[in-house]
Amino acid sequence: MAFGFGSHQCLGQNLARVEMQVAWPRLFERVPGLRLAIAEDELPFKRNSIVYGLTSLPVTW
Ligand code: HEM
Repeated sequence: MAFGFGSHQCLGQNLARVEMQVAWPRLFERVPGLRLAIAEDELPFKRNSIVYGLTSLPVTW
């Protein structure tokens, strides 16, 4: 769903998936205590944009 759909579906989605498969494990390996700094249900979502997502992702470690 993050990559859209139809004729404008993300052209880079396969590259992005491979990048994430590499980057996420490396990040958690290098910063083992990485976790959310606020409760999950307090995460601030954009509700007024065509592109859905978080406005920020507070983390701590
Ligand atoms: C997590 C990473 C990414 C996300 C979440 C993402 C998300 C999206 C979304 C939602 C669209 C559709 C926008 C619309 O409906 O108009 C899109 C389009 C596009 N993305 Fe990505 N993208 C990512 C990474 C990439 C990468 C790495 C590339 C290229 C190397 C890329 C190239 C493109 C291109 C060229 C389009 C336009 C396709 C078209 O309009 O026909 N994206 N992307």
